[in-house]
Amino acid sequence: MRPSGTIAFHDLAPKLESFRDAVLDGLSQPRKRIPCRFLYDERGSDLFEAICETPEYYPTRTEMSILKKHARKIAKLIGPEATLIEYGSGAGQKVKLLLRTLDRPRAYAGIDVSREILLRATDDLSMAAPGLEVVAICADFLTPIALPPSLRRGGGRRVAFFPGSSIGNLTPEEATRFLAQCRAMVGPQGAMLIGVDLKKDPARLNAAYNDAAGITAAFTLNLLERMNRELGADFIIERFAHHATYERSVGRVAIHIRSLVDQTATVAGRRFRFAKGEGIHTEDSWKYAVSDFQMLARDAGYTPLACWTDSADLFSVHYLAA
Ligand code: AVI
Repeated sequence: MRPSGTIAFHDLAPKLESFRDAVLDGLSQPRKRIPCRFLYDERGSDLFEAICETPEYYPTRTEMSILKKHARKIAKLIGPEATLIEYGSGAGQKVKLLLRTLDRPRAYAGIDVSREILLRATDDLSMAAPGLEVVAICADFLTPIALPPSLRRGGGRRVAFFPGSSIGNLTPEEATRFLAQCRAMVGPQGAMLIGVDLKKDPARLNAAYNDAAGITAAFTLNLLERMNRELGADFIIERFAHHATYERSVGRVAIHIRSLVDQTATVAGRRFRFAKGEGIHTEDSWKYAVSDFQMLARDAGYTPLACWTDSADLFSVHYLAA
C-alpha cells in the first residue's frame, strides 16, 4: 500500500538486516530468543488482530469498554486541540473512539513497525476524520523518535496513547525507559494514556494465551514461517509447537516456540541445533497490579492522575501527567 495524498508519511523502519542480525544473534545464544517485535510482519499483524477477536483474549474488548465508559472524563483531562500520538497504531478502533469524544483534536500520529497496518489504519482514520492532520511514522517505537515539526506546534496537549497493554511486552526496566522517552516527547504539559493488563487468576491468563482455535499458536509459529520466507530458512513447522504459561511468581506470561524433536535447521546459511523440548523465547507479557504500575510510572517521572478498571478487575487504563 502507498501513503495516500492526505497523510504525511515518515519511514524510519528498520532494514531487513536487522531481522537477519537479530535472528542469527538470538539463535546463537545459550537460551535461544528472538525479539517480539519481529512477530508483526503483515501476516503476524493480521493474526494478532484475529487473536483480539477470540473469546479467551479479554484485553481488547475489556479495554474498549473501559475507554467507552470513561470517554468523557478522559476527554476532559486531555482538554481541547490535542495531538494524539499512538504507539502500535493497530486497527485504530480505540483511537477513533477517543477522537470522537475529544474537544476539536488537532492532529493524530500513528507509530507502527508494520508499514502496511500503519498505512491502512492512518488512511482509514484520515477518511473518518476530515480536517484532522494525520501523520504516519513507520518505526520501531523503542528507538527515540523526533516528532515532525508540525506536531510540535499548536496550543493543545500532546498525549501519547499506548493501548492494548503492549507495555507488558517490555521488561519493567524497558517499560520505565520507554515511558520516560515518551514523557520527553510529549513535553511538560503532555500526558500519557495507557492500557495495562492486570494480574489475575492464572487459569484465565493461560486460556487467553492458548486459545482453543489455535490462533495464538499460529501467531507464534508465524515467526518460523517468516524466517523461511525472508531468510531462506528451512524450518518444518509441524516439528515445533507454541508454548505459553503464566509465571505467577514473576507476574508474566512467557511464550516460547518449543522443538518437538531433536533437529537442525538452516537460517540465512547457518545451521542451528534444536534439542527436543528446547525453546526459542519469543515474547513475555507482563501483568501488573494497579499500584505496581503507578510506581513504575512515577519512576519514569509521571504523576498518575486517574486509573479506571472494569468490574472484574481484568484490565486497567491509566492517565499519567508528564
Ligand atoms: C500485543 N501484546 C499486548 C499481546 C499480549 O497480550 O502480550 C501480544 C500477544 N501475544 C500473544 N497473544 C497476545
